Amino acid sequence: MFPYLKEYRMADLRAMLRNQRRPHRRTEASLAGKTVVIAGSSSGVGLAAAREVARAGGRLVLLARNEAKAQAVREALRRDFGADPSLHLADFARLAEVERVAEELLDAHERIDVLINSAGVYTTRRQLTDEGNELTFGVNHLAPFLLTVRLLPRMREAGRGRILQVNSQGHRFGGLDLRDLTWRRRLFLGLRAYGASKTAQLLSVWELADRLEGSGVTVNAMHPGEVRTGIGLNNGPLYRWYQRRLVDPWLADARVAGESLHTLAAAPELEGVSGRYFNKTHLEKPAPHALDRRVGRDLWQRTLELTGVDDDI
Ligand SMILES: NC(=O)c1ccc[n+]([C@@H]2O[C@H](COP(=O)([O-])OP(=O)(O)OC[C@H]3O[C@@H](n4cnc5c(N)ncnc54)[C@H](OP(=O)(O)O)[C@@H]3O)[C@@H](O)[C@H]2O)c1
Repeated sequence: MFPYLKEYRMADLRAMLRNQRRPHRRTEASLAGKTVVIAGSSSGVGLAAAREVARAGGRLVLLARNEAKAQAVREALRRDFGADPSLHLADFARLAEVERVAEELLDAHERIDVLINSAGVYTTRRQLTDEGNELTFGVNHLAPFLLTVRLLPRMREAGRGRILQVNSQGHRFGGLDLRDLTWRRRLFLGLRAYGASKTAQLLSVWELADRLEGSGVTVNAMHPGEVRTGIGLNNGPLYRWYQRRLVDPWLADARVAGESLHTLAAAPELEGVSGRYFNKTHLEKPAPHALDRRVGRDLWQRTLELTGVDDDI
C-alpha cells in the first residue's frame, strides 16, 4: 500500500502499527481565555475539534468556506456549550482569499493562542485552482502554509502559541515531485496527490519549527485517526456509496480526532514540543521520504514562491 515500504526500519513499522491501535491520550486542561482558530471547522475533524475546544472553555474563531454550513455549526456550539464563536469565510482553493482572511483575523483578534489547520480535500480527478495549483496541493499544503505564516507575527509578539497541522498517515502514499507539482507529466492518482500534499506539509513543518526555535511558538503535525467525516464525498455518487457503505462502518467517531487535537492544543506536558509528528496523540516517525531535509529545503523555496511569502519568518 505504501510505495516506499522497503525503506522503513522494522522497529518504526511496528511502532506505527502499535500507535494505530493505541487509544488517544486525553487531557482535562482548560482552554479558558485562549483564542483558538480552526480552519475547516464546518465538518469532520475540524468540527470535532471545535466542539472539544468549546467544551474546554476556549474562545473559538471558526474558518469555513460555506456560510450556511458554518452558521449551523455556530448555532450548535451556542446551543450545546454556550459558546460564542466568531466566523470568517474563505475558500482555501484561492490563495488571495487566504491572504484576505488572514488580514481580517489579525484585525479582529488581539490574540491567537492556537491555530488548527484542518481544511482538507481528497479528489480522484486532477483539478487546478484559479491560480494554477493542483487542488489537493493548494488546499492541503499551500493555503494552510500561507495562513500560518500570516498569523505567525501575532503569536510571536505574544511569545507563545501552538500551531497544529492536521496531516495524515496518507503522507506515506508519497507522490511529491517538485518538478511536477501540477501532475502535468504523470498519470494523476488521487491517493498519490493526497500523499504529495501531506508530505509537503510535513516537510514544511520541520522547516518552520527550525525557524521558530526559541520564539515560544510551536508547530506540530498530527494524524487525526481514521474517522468518519465528509472527506472524499466531493467525488461523485459511486465514490459516496463506496465511502458510506464500505469504508465508514470501519471508522471511528470523529470525536477521537477532536479530543486528540484538544490534547495537543492544551496539555501542559506538550509545552515547548515542536517539529514533531503525532499519530493522534502519540509521537511517531513519519515515512522516510517525509524526513528528507534536502527535499524539504527545495520544497520550502517553491512554497514561498507559490504563496508569495518572503523568507523573513
Ligand atoms: N477523516 C479521516 O479519517 C482523516 C484521516 C487523516 C487525515 N485527515 C485530514 O483531516 C482534515 C479534515 O478532513 P475531514 O476528514 O474532517 O474531512 P471533511 O469532513 O470533508 O472536512 C474537511 C474540511 O475542510 C473544508 N474544506 C475543503 N475544501 C475547502 C476549501 N477549498 N476551502 C476551505 N475549506 C475547505 C471543508 O469545508 P466544507 O464543509 O465546506 O466542505 C471541511 O470543513 C484533512 O486535512 C484530512 O486530510 C482525515
